[in-house]
Amino acid sequence: MTWLEDLEERARAVLPAHVAGYYAAGAGAGECLAEELAGWEALRWRPRVLTDTSAVDLSTTVLGTQLRTPVLVAPMAQQVAAHPEGEAATGRAVAAAGSLLGVSTNTAVPFDAVTATGAPWWYQVYVMRDRGLTRLLVERAAAAGARALVLTLDTTALASTVPGVEPTEWPPGPARERATALTAEDLADREEGATGTARDLDAGTVGWLRELSGLPVLVKGVLRGDDAARCVDAGAAGVVVSTHGGRRLGTSVTALRALPEVVAAVGDRAEVLVDSGLRSGGHVAAALALGARAAFVGRPAMWGLAADGEAGVADVLRRLTDELALVLQQVGAPRAVDLSPDLLAQDAPPPRRDG
Ligand SMILES: Cc1cc2nc3c(=O)[nH]c(=O)nc-3n(C[C@H](O)[C@H](O)[C@H](O)COP(=O)(O)O)c2cc1C
Repeated sequence: MTWLEDLEERARAVLPAHVAGYYAAGAGAGECLAEELAGWEALRWRPRVLTDTSAVDLSTTVLGTQLRTPVLVAPMAQQVAAHPEGEAATGRAVAAAGSLLGVSTNTAVPFDAVTATGAPWWYQVYVMRDRGLTRLLVERAAAAGARALVLTLDTTALASTVPGVEPTEWPPGPARERATALTAEDLADREEGATGTARDLDAGTVGWLRELSGLPVLVKGVLRGDDAARCVDAGAAGVVVSTHGGRRLGTSVTALRALPEVVAAVGDRAEVLVDSGLRSGGHVAAALALGARAAFVGRPAMWGLAADGEAGVADVLRRLTDELALVLQQVGAPRAVDLSPDLLAQDAPPPRRDG
């Protein structure tokens, strides 16, 4: 059992079953999530020799923010269900690691408390049917210190796909009300369904968010080169190649499979990031080798938060970063930013022998 599998088990043991089920769930029959996990694991390296790896350098920048590690924490809803401090605890761990935090639209922690952690953070936007509510949230996030917006466009229909959990069980009503920076006053006199996710978005949404906030916009949930190009043409400064951790569509291609296509389409004019199914520093190294500037982890951070609060998230980031440093030495690449696709074998790995 790896340290992370052990952590996942400890997190499951302390979480109510419906919360653990919500965190773990994949869309459909879980095919995409399973393929994400297996795909990263199956990659094989072509190490270099005669390179000086006496000092490895993991530092990088994302949209101009200097980081000490390219392992970032993905925006995730319902973090206070893992730990009462939610993103405040996660943020302190992220700050200590020299990383960056994604903050979900469905956060229960006030933006000022996130900023107070010292972590650089990006605000993840679900555009609501009532654009006025989205405007309020985006303006508040920008005023509180968010450094970019992450427009998520792969909204899931997850509630109905959590194995063994009735859709009505999650999110529990009161928690859902709390898990937003919107106040009762903000919500007064709004139409029924105002906070629901808008389905009528177009390329203009990127420019609208940019103007509203004065911040760079990344689009999250991109799985095609042509879509990535449309997003960048519309003004996006970056794209996050993501299947929402296998939570969008069970039969979707994986983020790993989509990454090279997206890098080829926009890598020279926008920053490409990736997430979904990364579970080790070696997986992060592979993501960088394939052209990602940095990689997000989702569930591993949530498991750390559930099991050990701030210290748990800090430990996850430290271990993944240490593993990444070791892989750099092992493959003969002194700097994370120098990882390149030729370091990875293109042919299929040998079949796995179980047992
Ligand atoms: C419990 C949970 C909640 C999530 N909530 C959000 C969200 O509110 N907004 C969003 O853009 N992505 C959300 N995601 C997706 C993550 O940002 C990220 O894409 C995904 O977790 C990465 O995959 P991994 O968990 O396998 O690392 C969520 C994922 C999980 C597991």
